[in-house]
Amino acid sequence: MSTTRDILITSALPYANGPIHLGHLVEYIQTDIWARFQKMRGHNCWYVCADDAHGTPIMLRARQEGIEPETLIARISAEHQADFAAFRIGFDNYHSTHSEENRHYAGLIYARNSEAGHIERRTITQAYDPVEQMFLPDRFIKGECPKCGAADQYGDNCEACGASYSPNELKNPRSAVSGAVPEQRESDHYFFKLGDFEEMLKAWTHGGGLQTQVANKLDEWFEAGLQSWDISRDAPYFGFEIPDHPGKFFYVWLDAPIGYMASFQNLCDRLGASQPGLDFDRFWGSDSEAELYHFIGKDIVYFHALFWPAMLHGAGFRTPNAVFAHGFLTVDGQKMSKSRGTFIKARTYLDHLDPEYLRYYFAAKLGAGVDDIDLNLEDFTARVNADLVGKVVNIASRCAGFITKRFDGRLAETLAAPELFAEFAAAGERIAAAYEGREYARAVREIMALADRANQYIDEQAPWVVAKQDGREQELHGICSMGINLFRLLIGYLRPILPGTAAEAEAFLQVEPLTWSALATPLLDHEIARFKPLMRRIESDQIEAMIEASKADLAASTPAPQPAMAVNPHLEADPIAETIDFDTFAKLDLRIARIAAAEQVEGAKKLLRLTLDLGGETRNVFAGIRAAYDPTDLEGRLTVMVANLAPRKMRFGVSEGMVLAAGPGGSDLFILSPDSGAEPGMRVK
Ligand code: 2FM
Ligand code: ZN
Repeated sequence: MSTTRDILITSALPYANGPIHLGHLVEYIQTDIWARFQKMRGHNCWYVCADDAHGTPIMLRARQEGIEPETLIARISAEHQADFAAFRIGFDNYHSTHSEENRHYAGLIYARNSEAGHIERRTITQAYDPVEQMFLPDRFIKGECPKCGAADQYGDNCEACGASYSPNELKNPRSAVSGAVPEQRESDHYFFKLGDFEEMLKAWTHGGGLQTQVANKLDEWFEAGLQSWDISRDAPYFGFEIPDHPGKFFYVWLDAPIGYMASFQNLCDRLGASQPGLDFDRFWGSDSEAELYHFIGKDIVYFHALFWPAMLHGAGFRTPNAVFAHGFLTVDGQKMSKSRGTFIKARTYLDHLDPEYLRYYFAAKLGAGVDDIDLNLEDFTARVNADLVGKVVNIASRCAGFITKRFDGRLAETLAAPELFAEFAAAGERIAAAYEGREYARAVREIMALADRANQYIDEQAPWVVAKQDGREQELHGICSMGINLFRLLIGYLRPILPGTAAEAEAFLQVEPLTWSALATPLLDHEIARFKPLMRRIESDQIEAMIEASKADLAASTPAPQPAMAVNPHLEADPIAETIDFDTFAKLDLRIARIAAAEQVEGAKKLLRLTLDLGGETRNVFAGIRAAYDPTDLEGRLTVMVANLAPRKMRFGVSEGMVLAAGPGGSDLFILSPDSGAEPGMRVK
């Protein structure tokens, strides 16, 4: 085996204002498998993470709950850590970006870049909420789309027509915090001059540390030109005040990746004295030979493959060896949806199912690319039951009873089929190469082919027949000991994916935690424990209960404002708009309409064309509900529409009114339905 490597691995830091859900877990499971694999190979490997605790959404969420941000982030950190531990995400350290270590490194990286001339001050004009007395991030401004006029659109793009624009183009803009009309105000901001690093970044991005799709995306960004990056925010802001610039704070995305360093420093301080290889400079110094890897979602590549290496380089630290991006999670082929019950929180999953199942299923689907992965719940059940329960665990249960009852729990002194064992042992390097290359699906395929082979061996040898025949005691001992040895190899190969099952199997085998190099030596003349079932089948009612519970979570949760995130981009709390007088209300002509036809609109990602029957009159209406509804499910339904909205000319035709829908947007939109008895054309009062 190769020499010992120093490896530091990170997963992206989850925001400290929302729960961990299955979308997040794709990444933590992917990373954890890699870290466990490296440790099993005997490397000096460390896996660190932290909560991403700063920024406007966290500040506002705390305010909304009437607590200090510190109280909020402490609570969420405890929740996150409990969820991660339950999913057996084996962090060596879990810290917070709101920590002294992070304040230190954020200040240091800023100061060194500043001294080297990579920071500039500029005056910018930004939306300001005069009621809350704060500048508003784009996502906290809402208004009418400048292109199609759709109401209640966010500051950067329109859910209804898909147009992108800047927040100052919005018509009738409102602060999403107070409802006030934003003003434009000037403020001094500090910018990181990314353009200074163009050459260095071009070399780094082509240095082999990025996936092809990601490197291609970066080339597009280089072509577009590297823009300076605004790294400061004005008070009030929950973050670190910039040294020597009172009232100015580091933008959350500046100190977020520095949180990787802070967490590692915290680990060194905790354990460094007893662990000779655990030293901050050894891993982060400019001449470090240690390997540094970041696992992230594909939506945050810009931060990790441009800003982060540039900031590090500018401050005299080493840059990462690689940034590994992964895709998003879909459930049953669609974006996770609260209304369908497929927006599943880690905790809700744990209330119903064993974490090992999900770890296995994700592993069986993960490759080294950035493709999205789908959790198909039927396939999940079938695959876990067939592979883990039906094949792997079954091998041990078919052999262990005989060893316990007939041989005092002791394995035979020699292998009955040494060539078969050698075949299994030889597969180890192929499987290791698949893990190393993050081709977990391939590793799982190899391992399951071996499991089939092991079951075939037991079928052919039929120990249950041999057991009934006199004088074949030694043969029976050999077959069952062989079966247990094959099981041991399979569990060893699966150990990065199934740490819980592997720990139970190690207890059953009465062996030390399995390492990769130990696997090739068979377990002979060794006493094992009584076998207990290692894993239960998934029953479909467990899945149904989890989906129902996730729907109930929706009803119970208070959505909190969040910045753009990997998987749940639209969980904004909608403030109540300002009041209107009765006459204004009375002008609204709301009518019951029957959806006579619904169809997709070519070229419009978010729209459905609805033909609405108003009891004699027919209207053509474009509604931004495509992500939420299958058109065929809508046909024939009654709903409520604004019938006297002035017709609007859109790119796809004229829209003659608007249907009413509730929800944050995207797939979480619910059109309103009247009780039975309502008829098309009735006025809603
Ligand atoms: O997108 C997110 O959820 C961020 N909280 C990830 C931060 S990763 C790192 F830079 F800290
Ligand atoms: Zn629009």
